[in-house]
Amino acid sequence: MFAAGFRKNNTACERYTAGVGTAVITGASSGIGEAFARALARRGQALLLIARREDRLAALAEELRARHGIRVETLAADLASSGGLARAAEAVGGTADLTLLVNNAGFGTRGYFHEGVLEEQERMHRLHVMAALRLTHAALNVMIPRGEGGVIQVASVAAFARSSYNASYCATKSWMTVFTEGLHLELREMGSRVRVQALCPGFTYSEFHDVLGVDRKTIASWLWMRADEVVEESLRGLERGRWLVIPGRIYRWFATVVSKLPVRLRLAVEARNPQRKARVGGGFVSR
Ligand SMILES: NC(=O)c1ccc[n+]([C@@H]2O[C@H](COP(=O)([O-])OP(=O)(O)OC[C@H]3O[C@@H](n4cnc5c(N)ncnc54)[C@H](OP(=O)(O)O)[C@@H]3O)[C@@H](O)[C@H]2O)c1
Repeated sequence: MFAAGFRKNNTACERYTAGVGTAVITGASSGIGEAFARALARRGQALLLIARREDRLAALAEELRARHGIRVETLAADLASSGGLARAAEAVGGTADLTLLVNNAGFGTRGYFHEGVLEEQERMHRLHVMAALRLTHAALNVMIPRGEGGVIQVASVAAFARSSYNASYCATKSWMTVFTEGLHLELREMGSRVRVQALCPGFTYSEFHDVLGVDRKTIASWLWMRADEVVEESLRGLERGRWLVIPGRIYRWFATVVSKLPVRLRLAVEARNPQRKARVGGGFVSR
């Protein structure tokens, strides 16, 4: 089910990742977002990189310009703030040759919901839900009239298997996946060649777990993937018109099985989440 997806108009899809137009990537200052920037730069794609850490964005932009001779712009913005999100939405909507938007900026949670600082929980919803919503709206209004382009929402395998200590994270990543499925249905109904994709990685090497303060060694080594592997699976999936991409055979198998379980059995599996061992105190952490 998850590997199949929707395949059509491959020629048009290849335009997303073949050095045409501009790709906008949020959360491009590290991890999966940086890996998207590097992969698309290698394909000759012009880039707009968005995140809060201006110095990281500037250094990456300079390196990619020098190495690949492409146009790379940066926008330092906190997408969980209304001002930062408005500036980003304006930049996305104003990119006439927009071929790809990657809504990737995000962070994790650690702790029981009721113990966490509410403001941090709200920041997570603003970033994973409201920023993705608004930027996708801006992007589709450029792409649909042109009849081409793609939007990738970087969700998580946590969209399929929820867990304690992660309530807001799992809920927002589930939202991203369900939202993408709905958009996919709308675009298909309209006969549009614009593509959307929910990318649902499992454990991936990045700064995500450093920000969380989680020791990677507490999670089995065979569960980890490299950010560049995740990105290549995503871009290959986009070229093939897949609205849902779960990188790694083990995670595809896991998501398929867990989704088919009766609720009571699913809850038993979810209660055994591998991050339990990594719980080093309560609270809710972000950069
Ligand atoms: N790593 C994993 O195991 C894993 C698994 C499944 C899904 N994911 C998802 O993958 C995405 C990327 O995470 P990652 O693993 O690459 O972690 P990462 O290395 O920590 O990258 C997170 C990125 O998001 C940006 N960001 C965070 N808050 C932001 C804000 N308020 N405004 C703008 N940018 C913000 C960060 O940049 P600044 O700090 O410079 O703003 C950074 O570039 C996230 O959505 C995460 O949920 C990760």
